[in-house]
Amino acid sequence: MRIMQLDAPSGTCTLAVGESLANLASYCTSGKTVIVTDNNVRRLHANKFPKAEIIEIERGEDAKTLATVHQLYEKFLELELDRSSLVIAIGGGIVCDVTAFAASTYLRGMRLALVPTTLLAQVDASVGGKNGVNFKGYKNLIGTIRQPELCLFDFDLLKTLSQQELRNGFAEIVKCGAIADANLFAYLEQHHSEAFSHKKTAIEKVVYDSLVVKTDIVAKDEREESGERMKLNFGHTLGHAIEKTIGLPHGEAISIGMVAVANLSVAKGLLSNKDAERIESLLKKIGLPTKLDYDKSKVIDAVRKDKKRREDDINFVLLEKIGKAKIEKININELEGIL
Ligand code: GLY
Repeated sequence: MRIMQLDAPSGTCTLAVGESLANLASYCTSGKTVIVTDNNVRRLHANKFPKAEIIEIERGEDAKTLATVHQLYEKFLELELDRSSLVIAIGGGIVCDVTAFAASTYLRGMRLALVPTTLLAQVDASVGGKNGVNFKGYKNLIGTIRQPELCLFDFDLLKTLSQQELRNGFAEIVKCGAIADANLFAYLEQHHSEAFSHKKTAIEKVVYDSLVVKTDIVAKDEREESGERMKLNFGHTLGHAIEKTIGLPHGEAISIGMVAVANLSVAKGLLSNKDAERIESLLKKIGLPTKLDYDKSKVIDAVRKDKKRREDDINFVLLEKIGKAKIEKININELEGIL
């Protein structure tokens, strides 16, 4: 088990990487504790939960709404939680995002801990402080940025995930290597199947290294002001548009997005063909899609509506080499040509 610390303007988060959920109780000092989870996670892992009130929310993206937050506020009130109470989210990205938003706004902020139970939530949703809900069809339109006091990463929880869920998480791990850690990328090329089959040393290394990438970036630019944090969006502008229009899972959509943007980086004379091929080849080996016959005009339309767009130019995260990202403005019409 390794402890990391993320110091950001909105707070300090301790990351217990490789810790067991069964040891969570030792971190729950003072105050009333309440757990927020869903019925699937509760069925699979409740035997390791610390003693506490349990609140269940619905599963799936449809639960990522203000209505669910409202239900949580009602429960918090009923349980007479106060600012010293600790709210613990145990679940995937949706449980973590909704709970973190409710806990960050109720009484202007209660204590919060996150225990992500999917690989995607471990390397992405649980770290960075962003929380929120969808609104009127827009993803994460309402939310705050506030660091939880603790994130606990138990790799045994990943053993109940489907192959597709694991692949989804691996897409974000490849992204971390591609934008900021060439050694992690090279390690994945050699050892992805060991990590995929839960070999402890391999999974621990790839998750830990991804967390180093993410926490370093968030510590430098928590509120996405200097451009540094935007690097985490590599493959995501197109990926989100593909996710929205075609309904692919997040990891599959950003895998296609990363390959398209690697090719765009080659076309702009930034990235070598060889590095673009390494990215495509690694994603393929992991079993992620790298191409799709999709309605390009619908995807471009979704990109146009992206809330990060400035007139006809979009800030895109391109690559200069594996392990080094660069932000450049791309004209939407140029993008249309390349796709
Ligand atoms: N909670 C996810 C992030 O801040 O990126």
